Amino acid sequence: MKKVVITGAGGQIGQQLSFKLPSLFKEEAELVLLDLPQVTESLEWMKMELEDCAFPFLKNILITSSQEEAFKDATYIICVGAFPRKEGMQRSDLLLKNASIFKEQGLNIKKFAKNNVKVLVVGNPCNTNAYIVSQFLAPSQHVFCLTTLDELRAKASVAKSLQQLPGDIENIFIWGNHSLTQYPYMDQALCQGKPMIIDLDNKKNIIKEVRERGALVIKAKGSSSSSSAAESIFQATKNLFYNQGKYFSMGVISKGEYGIEEGLCFSFPCQNIQGNIKVLENIVLNEEDMKEIKNSEEELKKERELLGNFFEK
Ligand code: LMR
Repeated sequence: MKKVVITGAGGQIGQQLSFKLPSLFKEEAELVLLDLPQVTESLEWMKMELEDCAFPFLKNILITSSQEEAFKDATYIICVGAFPRKEGMQRSDLLLKNASIFKEQGLNIKKFAKNNVKVLVVGNPCNTNAYIVSQFLAPSQHVFCLTTLDELRAKASVAKSLQQLPGDIENIFIWGNHSLTQYPYMDQALCQGKPMIIDLDNKKNIIKEVRERGALVIKAKGSSSSSSAAESIFQATKNLFYNQGKYFSMGVISKGEYGIEEGLCFSFPCQNIQGNIKVLENIVLNEEDMKEIKNSEEELKKERELLGNFFEK
């Protein structure tokens, strides 16, 4: 991780993330805060406060509204900036509003970023926006979408319902789209390394809770999640760069794993093997699991269809 870009850096998630992320840097790094010109002109305070934190490996901070300047030789790009969801909307309602943002970014990442860049898409609908970005990049340029927030929500929900600590719980995986069709999978969940028994009713409640949590936050807050989103991006970044061997959920571009159509951005259980993100191939799924997973795949195909001939334009 050397040149790290946060798009939409002046927004609620961007601001919180900017002050968390540099504590992860383990080598000299530059942090780029990219946003629209009308936002960047008032972001000087972020640079000052970031400097004042004296993060050990934060060498340089750049505030810019130029994608060329931001993406030039970038090694990690977190695409946060996008129109957010409002009460009563589904994330897919944002598709046509946000698609052109991700098309432009895909083109500019291809032109300017390093060949081995990793891109994490957060702006919704994040799976299909990641799919759009991936259409412009080379296979060595890895595109992901964020389902870590769903995984954290599922862990928290399991912990609460069984009166355990969230930190003791592992191996809960999110399959599919970051939407109401996502499938939080708990059959291999561990607590302090031991298998957990989660009864069927409890499982159903947890799945419902995770699927609907984003909308409930919007209802309670009047705007979409930001503190938990920033924390989940921080955790996802650790998974992408540092947590060797650990299992986690991540939206990745499917290579046909578990029969999911190649090219879609689909959340799978993954593992970081020497910096490469691999889909875990040994998860045993029953008919009911596959039904849920296929349902989410169908939704992603429909989102892709909605894009129509967007790429020819
Ligand atoms: C979330 O899950 O909280 C975010 O994706 C924001 C949203 O629109 O729900």
